[in-house]
Amino acid sequence: MRAIQIDRYGGSEVLIRRELPIPCPGADEVLIRLAYSGVNFMDIHTREGKYARSRTYPQTLPTTLGIEGAGTIELLGSKVDDFRVGDRVAYCLSWGSYADYAAVAAWRVVHVPDALPLELAAASMFHGLTAHYLAHDVGKLGPGVTCLVHSASGGIGQLLVQIGAQLGATVYATTSTEAKAQVARNRGATAAFLYDHGRFADTVRALTGGRGVDVVFDPVGRPTLRDSLRATRTKGLVVSFGSVGGNVTDLNPIELGEAGSLFLTRPRLADHLTDAKTVRRRAADIFEALIAGTLSIGIAGRTTLDNVEQAHQDLEHRKTVGKPLIRIA
Ligand SMILES: NC(=O)c1ccc[n+]([C@@H]2O[C@H](COP(=O)([O-])OP(=O)(O)OC[C@H]3O[C@@H](n4cnc5c(N)ncnc54)[C@H](OP(=O)(O)O)[C@@H]3O)[C@@H](O)[C@H]2O)c1
Repeated sequence: MRAIQIDRYGGSEVLIRRELPIPCPGADEVLIRLAYSGVNFMDIHTREGKYARSRTYPQTLPTTLGIEGAGTIELLGSKVDDFRVGDRVAYCLSWGSYADYAAVAAWRVVHVPDALPLELAAASMFHGLTAHYLAHDVGKLGPGVTCLVHSASGGIGQLLVQIGAQLGATVYATTSTEAKAQVARNRGATAAFLYDHGRFADTVRALTGGRGVDVVFDPVGRPTLRDSLRATRTKGLVVSFGSVGGNVTDLNPIELGEAGSLFLTRPRLADHLTDAKTVRRRAADIFEALIAGTLSIGIAGRTTLDNVEQAHQDLEHRKTVGKPLIRIA
Protein backbone atom coordinates (compact mmCIF):
# COMPACT_ATOMS: atom_id res chain seq x y z
CA MET A 1 0.00 0.00 0.00
CA ARG A 2 0.98 3.66 -0.39
CA ALA A 3 2.02 5.58 2.74
CA ILE A 4 3.55 8.95 3.58
CA GLN A 5 6.16 8.51 6.28
CA ILE A 6 8.86 10.43 8.10
CA ASP A 7 12.21 8.99 9.22
CA ARG A 8 13.40 12.28 10.70
CA TYR A 9 11.86 15.56 11.83
CA GLY A 10 11.80 18.75 9.78
CA GLY A 11 9.96 20.67 7.08
CA SER A 12 7.82 19.17 4.33
CA GLU A 13 11.03 17.92 2.65
CA VAL A 14 11.18 15.07 5.20
CA LEU A 15 7.96 13.48 3.86
CA ILE A 16 8.73 10.17 2.11
CA ARG A 17 6.42 8.17 -0.17
CA ARG A 18 6.72 4.45 0.51
CA GLU A 19 5.17 1.17 -0.59
CA LEU A 20 4.51 -0.75 2.63
CA PRO A 21 2.80 -4.04 3.44
CA ILE A 22 -0.86 -3.68 4.42
CA PRO A 23 -0.87 -3.68 8.25
CA CYS A 24 -2.16 -6.73 10.05
CA PRO A 25 -4.68 -5.73 12.76
CA GLY A 26 -3.93 -6.81 16.31
CA ALA A 27 -6.55 -8.66 18.36
CA ASP A 28 -8.22 -5.41 19.51
CA GLU A 29 -7.80 -3.56 16.22
CA VAL A 30 -9.66 -3.18 12.95
CA LEU A 31 -8.08 -2.75 9.53
CA ILE A 32 -9.64 0.21 7.71
CA ARG A 33 -9.44 0.78 3.97
CA LEU A 34 -9.21 4.58 4.00
CA ALA A 35 -11.30 6.77 1.74
CA TYR A 36 -10.24 10.10 3.28
CA SER A 37 -7.64 11.35 5.72
CA GLY A 38 -7.82 14.70 7.48
CA VAL A 39 -4.86 17.07 7.32
CA ASN A 40 -4.23 18.75 10.67
CA PHE A 41 -1.75 21.01 12.34
CA MET A 42 -0.98 18.04 14.54
CA ASP A 43 0.57 16.40 11.45
CA ILE A 44 2.86 19.40 11.06
CA HIS A 45 3.72 19.35 14.77
CA THR A 46 4.44 15.59 14.42
CA ARG A 47 6.59 16.16 11.33
CA GLU A 48 8.53 18.84 13.23
CA GLY A 49 9.14 16.52 16.19
CA LYS A 50 6.98 18.27 18.80
CA TYR A 51 5.71 14.91 20.10
CA ALA A 52 9.13 13.23 20.11
CA ARG A 53 9.15 13.28 23.91
CA SER A 54 5.41 13.51 24.55
CA ARG A 55 3.80 11.40 27.24
CA THR A 56 0.27 12.12 25.99
CA TYR A 57 1.08 11.42 22.35
CA PRO A 58 4.06 9.05 22.37
CA GLN A 59 5.47 8.84 18.86
CA THR A 60 8.52 7.12 17.41
CA LEU A 61 10.26 7.08 14.02
CA PRO A 62 9.55 6.01 11.38
CA THR A 63 5.93 7.18 11.54
CA THR A 64 3.19 7.18 8.94
CA LEU A 65 1.67 10.64 9.28
CA GLY A 66 -2.02 11.48 9.67
CA ILE A 67 -4.15 11.02 12.78
CA GLU A 68 -7.70 10.82 11.42
CA GLY A 69 -9.56 9.10 8.67
CA ALA A 70 -12.74 7.50 7.39
CA GLY A 71 -13.31 4.45 5.24
CA THR A 72 -14.58 0.87 5.41
CA ILE A 73 -13.59 -2.05 7.58
CA GLU A 74 -11.49 -4.58 5.70
CA LEU A 75 -10.49 -6.97 8.52
CA LEU A 76 -11.33 -7.50 12.18
CA GLY A 77 -8.99 -8.42 15.03
CA SER A 78 -9.89 -11.65 16.82
CA LYS A 79 -11.36 -9.87 19.88
CA VAL A 80 -13.41 -7.25 17.99
CA ASP A 81 -17.12 -7.99 17.99
CA ASP A 82 -18.85 -4.62 17.57
CA PHE A 83 -17.92 -4.08 13.89
CA ARG A 84 -18.43 -6.04 10.66
CA VAL A 85 -16.35 -6.17 7.49
CA GLY A 86 -17.68 -3.46 5.15
CA ASP A 87 -18.89 -1.12 7.94
CA ARG A 88 -18.40 2.58 7.22
CA VAL A 89 -16.26 3.99 10.03
CA ALA A 90 -14.14 6.94 11.16
CA TYR A 91 -11.57 7.56 13.89
CA CYS A 92 -8.97 10.02 15.16
CA LEU A 93 -5.86 10.17 17.37
CA SER A 94 -4.16 7.14 15.85
CA TRP A 95 -1.19 7.75 13.56
CA GLY A 96 -1.12 6.29 10.06
CA SER A 97 -3.97 7.84 8.03
CA TYR A 98 -1.76 9.17 5.18
CA ALA A 99 -1.97 5.67 3.67
CA ASP A 100 -4.31 3.29 1.86
CA TYR A 101 -4.96 1.24 5.02
CA ALA A 102 -4.67 1.80 8.77
CA ALA A 103 -4.88 -0.63 11.68
CA VAL A 104 -6.68 1.20 14.49
CA ALA A 105 -7.67 0.22 18.04
CA ALA A 106 -11.38 -0.61 17.81
CA TRP A 107 -12.28 1.55 20.82
CA ARG A 108 -11.21 4.64 18.85
CA VAL A 109 -13.45 3.77 15.89
CA VAL A 110 -17.07 4.90 15.36
CA HIS A 111 -19.73 3.86 12.90
CA VAL A 112 -20.59 6.50 10.30
CA PRO A 113 -24.34 6.82 9.71
CA ASP A 114 -25.49 6.13 6.12
CA ALA A 115 -26.72 9.71 5.83
CA LEU A 116 -23.23 11.14 6.42
CA PRO A 117 -20.71 11.16 3.54
CA LEU A 118 -17.36 9.62 4.52
CA GLU A 119 -15.63 12.84 3.56
CA LEU A 120 -17.56 14.77 6.24
CA ALA A 121 -16.91 12.03 8.76
CA ALA A 122 -13.16 12.29 8.10
CA ALA A 123 -13.31 16.07 8.27
CA SER A 124 -15.19 16.15 11.55
CA MET A 125 -13.53 13.62 13.85
CA PHE A 126 -10.42 15.40 15.14
CA HIS A 127 -11.66 18.97 14.91
CA GLY A 128 -15.27 18.11 15.78
CA LEU A 129 -14.41 16.11 18.89
CA THR A 130 -11.96 18.81 19.94
CA ALA A 131 -14.53 21.60 19.54
CA HIS A 132 -17.03 19.39 21.40
CA TYR A 133 -14.92 18.88 24.54
CA LEU A 134 -13.61 22.46 24.51
CA ALA A 135 -17.12 23.93 24.35
CA HIS A 136 -18.93 21.50 26.66
CA ASP A 137 -16.37 20.28 29.17
CA VAL A 138 -13.65 22.92 29.37
CA GLY A 139 -15.38 26.21 28.51
CA LYS A 140 -18.79 25.05 29.80
CA LEU A 141 -20.43 27.35 27.27
CA GLY A 142 -24.09 28.21 27.65
CA PRO A 143 -26.50 31.12 27.96
CA GLY A 144 -24.90 34.11 29.68
CA VAL A 145 -21.34 32.93 28.97
CA THR A 146 -19.08 35.12 26.83
CA CYS A 147 -16.08 33.69 25.00
CA LEU A 148 -13.39 34.60 22.52
CA VAL A 149 -12.37 32.10 19.82
CA HIS A 150 -9.02 32.76 18.12
CA SER A 151 -8.26 31.45 14.60
CA ALA A 152 -11.99 31.26 14.09
CA SER A 153 -11.88 30.44 10.38
CA GLY A 154 -9.73 27.34 10.98
CA GLY A 155 -11.05 23.81 11.25
CA ILE A 156 -11.56 23.91 15.01
CA GLY A 157 -12.47 27.59 15.12
CA GLN A 158 -15.42 27.32 12.73
CA LEU A 159 -16.87 24.45 14.74
CA LEU A 160 -16.24 26.10 18.11
CA VAL A 161 -17.99 29.28 16.98
CA GLN A 162 -21.05 27.32 15.83
CA ILE A 163 -21.26 25.08 18.88
CA GLY A 164 -20.73 28.02 21.25
CA ALA A 165 -23.45 30.08 19.57
CA GLN A 166 -25.83 27.11 19.57
CA LEU A 167 -25.24 26.56 23.28
CA GLY A 168 -26.37 30.15 23.81
CA ALA A 169 -22.99 31.76 24.50
CA THR A 170 -21.90 35.09 23.09
CA VAL A 171 -18.97 34.29 20.81
CA TYR A 172 -16.36 36.82 19.75
CA ALA A 173 -13.84 35.75 17.14
CA THR A 174 -10.41 36.76 15.87
CA THR A 175 -8.72 36.00 12.57
CA SER A 176 -5.74 37.29 10.57
CA THR A 177 -7.73 38.73 7.65
CA GLU A 178 -11.06 40.42 7.11
CA ALA A 179 -12.12 37.66 4.69
CA LYS A 180 -11.53 35.09 7.44
CA ALA A 181 -13.42 37.29 9.92
CA GLN A 182 -16.41 37.18 7.59
CA VAL A 183 -16.27 33.36 7.67
CA ALA A 184 -16.50 33.55 11.48
CA ARG A 185 -19.47 35.93 11.33
CA ASN A 186 -21.19 33.61 8.88
CA ARG A 187 -20.69 30.77 11.38
CA GLY A 188 -22.48 32.73 14.12
CA ALA A 189 -19.90 34.93 15.82
CA THR A 190 -21.47 37.99 17.44
CA ALA A 191 -18.44 40.01 16.34
CA ALA A 192 -15.26 39.06 14.51
CA PHE A 193 -12.15 41.22 14.22
CA LEU A 194 -8.41 40.97 13.56
CA TYR A 195 -5.74 40.11 16.14
CA ASP A 196 -4.33 43.57 15.38
CA HIS A 197 -1.03 42.92 17.21
CA GLY A 198 -2.83 42.10 20.45
CA ARG A 199 -5.29 44.98 20.33
CA PHE A 200 -8.05 42.36 20.09
CA ALA A 201 -7.93 42.44 23.91
CA ASP A 202 -8.96 46.11 23.91
CA THR A 203 -11.75 45.37 21.44
CA VAL A 204 -13.02 42.57 23.69
CA ARG A 205 -12.90 44.83 26.73
CA ALA A 206 -14.86 47.49 24.85
CA LEU A 207 -17.45 44.97 23.65
CA THR A 208 -17.97 43.62 27.18
CA GLY A 209 -18.27 46.98 28.92
CA GLY A 210 -14.72 46.72 30.29
CA ARG A 211 -15.29 43.34 31.95
CA GLY A 212 -13.57 40.91 29.57
CA VAL A 213 -14.87 37.53 28.45
CA ASP A 214 -15.45 34.52 30.66
CA VAL A 215 -13.39 32.18 28.46
CA VAL A 216 -10.71 32.59 25.79
CA PHE A 217 -9.88 29.67 23.46
CA ASP A 218 -6.32 30.18 22.25
CA PRO A 219 -4.70 27.74 19.75
CA VAL A 220 -2.05 30.27 18.67
CA GLY A 221 0.29 30.49 21.66
CA ARG A 222 3.20 32.89 21.80
CA PRO A 223 1.81 35.70 19.59
CA THR A 224 -1.54 35.92 21.42
CA LEU A 225 -1.49 34.33 24.86
CA ARG A 226 -0.52 37.35 26.93
CA ASP A 227 -3.17 39.47 25.23
CA SER A 228 -5.62 36.61 25.76
CA LEU A 229 -5.00 37.10 29.50
CA ARG A 230 -5.85 40.79 29.03
CA ALA A 231 -9.11 39.88 27.26
CA THR A 232 -10.31 37.65 30.12
CA ARG A 233 -12.49 38.79 33.01
CA THR A 234 -11.38 38.55 36.63
CA LYS A 235 -11.32 34.86 37.65
CA GLY A 236 -12.01 33.89 34.04
CA LEU A 237 -10.55 30.95 32.11
CA VAL A 238 -7.85 30.96 29.42
CA VAL A 239 -7.79 27.75 27.39
CA SER A 240 -4.42 27.44 25.69
CA PHE A 241 -5.15 24.44 23.47
CA GLY A 242 -2.55 24.82 20.72
CA SER A 243 0.62 26.53 19.61
CA VAL A 244 0.44 27.15 15.87
CA GLY A 245 2.33 30.40 16.44
CA GLY A 246 4.96 28.91 18.80
CA ASN A 247 5.15 27.80 22.43
CA VAL A 248 5.00 30.17 25.39
CA THR A 249 8.00 29.15 27.47
CA ASP A 250 8.38 32.03 29.89
CA LEU A 251 5.03 32.54 31.61
CA ASN A 252 5.33 33.33 35.32
CA PRO A 253 2.22 32.30 37.35
CA ILE A 254 2.22 35.75 38.95
CA GLU A 255 1.05 37.08 35.57
CA LEU A 256 -2.21 35.17 36.07
CA GLY A 257 -2.65 36.91 39.40
CA GLU A 258 -1.90 40.33 37.98
CA ALA A 259 -4.37 39.71 35.13
CA GLY A 260 -7.18 39.08 37.63
CA SER A 261 -6.72 35.71 39.40
CA LEU A 262 -7.13 33.88 36.10
CA PHE A 263 -7.32 30.15 35.48
CA LEU A 264 -5.06 28.88 32.71
CA THR A 265 -5.42 25.37 31.30
CA ARG A 266 -3.58 23.44 28.59
CA PRO A 267 -6.05 20.64 27.76
CA ARG A 268 -5.52 17.79 25.31
CA LEU A 269 -8.07 15.82 23.33
CA ALA A 270 -6.49 12.51 24.40
CA ASP A 271 -7.53 13.19 28.00
CA HIS A 272 -11.10 13.85 26.86
CA LEU A 273 -11.34 10.72 24.68
CA THR A 274 -10.28 8.01 27.08
CA ASP A 275 -12.80 5.26 26.29
CA ALA A 276 -15.09 4.00 23.52
CA LYS A 277 -18.23 5.35 25.20
CA THR A 278 -16.87 8.91 25.23
CA VAL A 279 -15.56 8.70 21.66
CA ARG A 280 -18.96 7.46 20.47
CA ARG A 281 -20.94 10.01 22.47
CA ARG A 282 -18.96 12.97 21.17
CA ALA A 283 -18.92 11.65 17.57
CA ALA A 284 -22.68 10.95 17.68
CA ASP A 285 -23.37 14.56 18.74
CA ILE A 286 -21.22 15.92 15.91
CA PHE A 287 -22.51 13.50 13.26
CA GLU A 288 -26.17 14.12 14.20
CA ALA A 289 -25.69 17.90 13.96
CA LEU A 290 -23.96 17.56 10.58
CA ILE A 291 -26.78 15.38 9.25
CA ALA A 292 -29.42 17.76 10.65
CA GLY A 293 -27.60 20.67 9.03
CA THR A 294 -27.20 22.56 12.32
CA LEU A 295 -23.40 22.22 12.06
CA SER A 296 -21.36 22.88 8.94
CA ILE A 297 -17.79 22.06 8.04
CA GLY A 298 -16.06 24.04 5.35
CA ILE A 299 -13.81 21.68 3.35
CA ALA A 300 -10.71 23.75 2.58
CA GLY A 301 -9.59 21.48 -0.24
CA ARG A 302 -9.14 17.88 -1.33
CA THR A 303 -5.61 16.82 -2.15
CA THR A 304 -4.08 13.39 -2.88
CA LEU A 305 -1.28 11.39 -1.32
CA ASP A 306 0.92 12.73 -4.16
CA ASN A 307 0.50 16.32 -3.06
CA VAL A 308 0.49 16.38 0.74
CA GLU A 309 3.40 18.83 0.85
CA GLN A 310 1.21 21.54 -0.64
CA ALA A 311 -1.53 20.97 1.96
CA HIS A 312 1.05 21.29 4.75
CA GLN A 313 2.50 24.46 3.25
CA ASP A 314 -0.94 26.00 2.82
CA LEU A 315 -1.69 25.35 6.51
CA GLU A 316 1.66 26.76 7.61
CA HIS A 317 1.24 29.84 5.41
CA ARG A 318 -2.28 30.46 6.74
CA LYS A 319 -3.89 30.03 3.32
CA THR A 320 -6.29 27.38 4.58
CA VAL A 321 -9.86 28.22 5.54
CA GLY A 322 -11.70 25.26 7.05
CA LYS A 323 -10.60 21.64 6.86
CA PRO A 324 -8.16 20.16 4.33
CA LEU A 325 -8.61 16.52 3.32
CA ILE A 326 -6.66 13.87 1.44
CA ARG A 327 -8.83 11.80 -0.90
CA ILE A 328 -7.29 8.34 -0.77
CA ALA A 329 -9.62 5.82 -2.42
N1 LIG B 1 -5.50 20.62 22.68
C1 LIG B 1 -6.23 19.90 21.85
O1 LIG B 1 -7.03 19.08 22.27
C2 LIG B 1 -6.05 20.11 20.39
C3 LIG B 1 -6.81 19.38 19.47
C4 LIG B 1 -6.66 19.65 18.12
C5 LIG B 1 -5.73 20.60 17.70
N2 LIG B 1 -4.99 21.27 18.62
C6 LIG B 1 -4.04 22.29 18.25
O2 LIG B 1 -4.74 23.42 17.81
C7 LIG B 1 -3.95 24.12 16.88
C8 LIG B 1 -4.79 24.37 15.63
O3 LIG B 1 -4.67 23.22 14.79
P1 LIG B 1 -5.71 22.78 13.69
O4 LIG B 1 -5.27 21.62 12.97
O5 LIG B 1 -6.94 22.59 14.37
O6 LIG B 1 -5.75 23.95 12.72
P2 LIG B 1 -6.94 24.95 12.47
O7 LIG B 1 -7.95 24.91 13.55
O8 LIG B 1 -7.40 24.74 11.10
O9 LIG B 1 -6.19 26.30 12.69
C9 LIG B 1 -5.39 26.84 11.72
C10 LIG B 1 -5.51 28.35 11.90
O10 LIG B 1 -4.53 28.80 12.81
C11 LIG B 1 -4.37 30.20 12.58
N3 LIG B 1 -3.00 30.63 12.85
C12 LIG B 1 -2.66 31.52 13.80
N4 LIG B 1 -1.35 31.67 13.82
C13 LIG B 1 -0.83 30.88 12.87
C14 LIG B 1 0.49 30.63 12.42
N5 LIG B 1 1.55 31.25 12.96
N6 LIG B 1 0.67 29.75 11.42
C15 LIG B 1 -0.38 29.13 10.88
N7 LIG B 1 -1.67 29.32 11.26
C16 LIG B 1 -1.89 30.20 12.26
C17 LIG B 1 -4.77 30.45 11.12
O11 LIG B 1 -5.87 31.35 11.14
P3 LIG B 1 -5.59 32.92 11.07
O12 LIG B 1 -4.80 33.17 9.82
O13 LIG B 1 -6.92 33.54 11.07
O14 LIG B 1 -4.80 33.24 12.32
C18 LIG B 1 -5.26 29.10 10.63
O15 LIG B 1 -6.45 29.20 9.90
C19 LIG B 1 -2.70 23.27 16.68
O16 LIG B 1 -1.65 23.75 17.50
C20 LIG B 1 -3.12 21.91 17.13
O17 LIG B 1 -2.08 21.09 17.57
C21 LIG B 1 -5.13 21.04 19.95
